[in-house]
Amino acid sequence: MRKSADVASVKADLLVVCLPGPPGDLTGAVADVDAALGGRVRAAVADGEIDGKAGAATRFHSGSALAAPRVAVVGVGEGSAEDWRSAGGGVASLTSRVATKVVAIVPPADAGTAEVGAFVEGLGTGVYRFDRFTTSSDAPAPPERLYVHSAAVRTADLKRADRVVDAVNGARDLSNTPANHLTPTDLADHAKALADGIAGLSVTVLGPSKLEKLGAGGLLGVARGSDEPARMIVMRYRPSSPARPGEVLGLVGKAVTFDTGGISIKPSNGMEEMKMDMGGGAAVIEATALIAALGLPVEIISVVPATENMPSGRAVKPGDVLTALNGKTIEVINTDAEGRLILADALTHAAREGATRLIDFATLTGAIVVALGEVYAGLFGSDDEWTRLVREAADSSGDLAWPMPLHARYAPLIASQVADLSNSSNKRQAGAVYAAQFLREFTEGVPWCHVDVAGTAMVSGKGTGFGVRLILAVAERLAEPAPL
Ligand code: BES
Ligand code: MN
Ligand code: ZN
Repeated sequence: MRKSADVASVKADLLVVCLPGPPGDLTGAVADVDAALGGRVRAAVADGEIDGKAGAATRFHSGSALAAPRVAVVGVGEGSAEDWRSAGGGVASLTSRVATKVVAIVPPADAGTAEVGAFVEGLGTGVYRFDRFTTSSDAPAPPERLYVHSAAVRTADLKRADRVVDAVNGARDLSNTPANHLTPTDLADHAKALADGIAGLSVTVLGPSKLEKLGAGGLLGVARGSDEPARMIVMRYRPSSPARPGEVLGLVGKAVTFDTGGISIKPSNGMEEMKMDMGGGAAVIEATALIAALGLPVEIISVVPATENMPSGRAVKPGDVLTALNGKTIEVINTDAEGRLILADALTHAAREGATRLIDFATLTGAIVVALGEVYAGLFGSDDEWTRLVREAADSSGDLAWPMPLHARYAPLIASQVADLSNSSNKRQAGAVYAAQFLREFTEGVPWCHVDVAGTAMVSGKGTGFGVRLILAVAERLAEPAPL
């Protein structure tokens, strides 16, 4: 058997070796580490302290037995991508207590780019911290470098994983940034800066006068209450040779940079969390730039409607009627159901600008949080084949999404006495379905999926970057030529 590296000579603050679960006989690097440590790893396995469960990481001090002063044995379970991501996360948590500048991993010989890449993702997203607004901290700095000692994995192949980490963490930064530091204009500027220098990617930002001409009454209606002007952020990616010529992936993301509820104001307790109401838009912006930077052969149009939802003397009021971009009229029953108003215009705009399939990401309803919690996002779809593709992409990416229904018999929910549609009903029924059913009216018949990320975009007050990896996984599927 080929030895992947001489573990004793690997220089790092923390050396990582991997163990499947349940563990069999120790082999490869972990056996070498065990031998150097005089059988301590085997002893820990024998008494069950080390069980190989994905993400379970145990640290040993190596004394003078290895060049690295500390070594971590991390479980990789059955070896799925999710298991390897957990392993990276487990190692990340070991680096949060002691300063660990350099991490080195000696993966098993049968671990390739997919496995090690997933480890890199787990580590890079696991060491993430949001410290932009803390002026002092006792916590040690996160690792600066990861060395991979493997004949099977080339550093260049890990570029994808590095970029995924940057995009997920970038989306988290946006969600975590307070609304006074991330206005709709700031978000638009961020999208422009991100796209700068990426081949084939361009960004156009529509302000109030352009939106007026378009007739984007939903977005403008919500923005009326705020002193911050609305922005519709449009990103286009045109690869040089698309895998499916004529196909255009339309991505739409809700970006309410702060949701007070408007005149239908929210209770003050916990309202600070509503700085994350742009998490869907953040995922769309970061994923669009990621896909373009990776050069995937998929044409994309992304539309992110951005605004605050504020109460004021000019704000939209319950009972007001707005006219959406597609001409449909909407009675605003509840100004806190603002997401669907701005997404309505964005979906229509994406379809009219050429999207041949649509998917939107939105922190849309409290009802989806009640239904699915923080594990699964809600997945709605108007087209079985497209919905299946998205669901498979969700499973493989780790950004999980569970199917929810749409049905013509829900239609009476969204009826209004005075306009074509109402944005909310007083019936406390099927709140997440209501919102999806409403959005469908603005999709121009284009195959469409809606992902309600209200429960998954922020967990324990921290942005997750949910959606970035799911969008990438969707794009990777569309980067394959269409099946016959
Ligand atoms: N942004 C909220 C939804 C939300 C809730 C996101 C919890 C994240 C966590 C959305 O704009 C909203 O207020 N929805 C209302 C709709 C209702 C008034 C029909 C809701 O779900 O209560
Ligand atoms: Mn709201
Ligand atoms: Zn909202």
